[in-house]
Amino acid sequence: MTAKPVFVLNGPTLNLLGTREPEIYGTTTLDDINAMTAARAKTHGLSVDFRQTNREGELVDWLIEARERACGVILNGGAYTHTSIALYDAIKAIKVPVIEVHLSNPYAREPFRHHSYVSHAATGVICGLRAQGYEFAVDGIAALVLGGKKGKT
Ligand code: DQA
Repeated sequence: MTAKPVFVLNGPTLNLLGTREPEIYGTTTLDDINAMTAARAKTHGLSVDFRQTNREGELVDWLIEARERACGVILNGGAYTHTSIALYDAIKAIKVPVIEVHLSNPYAREPFRHHSYVSHAATGVICGLRAQGYEFAVDGIAALVLGGKKGKT
């Protein structure tokens, strides 16, 4: 087991997953996604620290915490993705890989979702694959952190 966990950080309104616009986001709850990511991480010998907040500053604090305490970050910034230079700056300030995830495909939605401040700083981006995107993001972090040593099929 790698000592440092993967931080899985979820932004505003993602606590309502399962009942929030299920035609867009699916019926999987955030608790389900927590369990899915933990199980996937375990297959790579990694653990997750899974969190959700509706506050922008708390996401910034957690990204800064990840600098020392995480081996990588999976970030679904929710609507702050499209508005927050603070998230961009925080990601730029940390060295661990950050994978941006969205359940929906923002580029197939309203024009105000077509720009992501997070994408400008993230190592990689996964969108439109609903909850499974988080599992692929864990695979991505594992590949980046563990390299050829483990987790490749
Ligand atoms: C989202 C996409 C964002 O545009 C939106 O504001 C969300 C969820 C997604 O996971 O698809 O809150 O990040």
